[in-house]
Amino acid sequence: MMLTKSKSILFALLAMILFASCDRDRNHPGWDYFPDMFYSTAYETYTPNPNFADGKTMRNPVKGTVSREMTTFAFTLEEGERARAGEELVNPFETNAKTLEAGKHVYTVFCAGCHGIDGSGSGKLYTMGLYPLKPRSLVNDAAKELKDGEIYYSVTLGFGSMGPHGAQINPDDRWKLISYIREDLQKNFKETVDTTKLN
Ligand code: HEC
Repeated sequence: MMLTKSKSILFALLAMILFASCDRDRNHPGWDYFPDMFYSTAYETYTPNPNFADGKTMRNPVKGTVSREMTTFAFTLEEGERARAGEELVNPFETNAKTLEAGKHVYTVFCAGCHGIDGSGSGKLYTMGLYPLKPRSLVNDAAKELKDGEIYYSVTLGFGSMGPHGAQINPDDRWKLISYIREDLQKNFKETVDTTKLN
């Protein structure tokens, strides 16, 4: 079917309008519809602000203040600090089924991969060769000798090649985790024959 002349002109016009609306210049935003929602009258976080001497919109916290979400930890990585944590920190939770259950959950999520479900240090990440360093046993005599505060310190700030978990596990959960290691893993651990070494 042949297009009539007027139809061809209409078609060409439409095509022109269609292609004219495409723009390769990414720096030009084009036309705004309903611009009121795009341009806020409030100052945006990172825009300059003439109301403050330093010209910034985002304000620094007042000196010496701590946000509600932040918990401070009064120990550093310096020599002797782990021992001091062992002397000064006390687990505030009493051992009961609820504490142990919560502690088990935290342990399973954050520690078992390396230290093993039973705490012996043979977690899957290590035995499968995905993590090269042998995690320490949390159930041998040396681990039983550790003070609660020392374990809390190691979980919070890390220990040797083990990374810190202070940012992932909140303080209450860290203590419940320690209750679980002490009252469940350490008390119930039984040395089993390592069948992988028998072949
Ligand atoms: C990515 C593997 C990995 C994860 C996850 C991990 N650890 Fe460790 N952990 C290690 C290794 C490896 C060491 C030994 C580090 C060294 O000797 O330098 C260690 C050491 C420790 C020690 C020190 C033991 C001692 O003799 O003082 C404690 C306590 C400990 N881990 C507890 C935990 C707890 C509790 C969790 C869970 C919150 C956890 N770890 C998560 C790998 C891990």
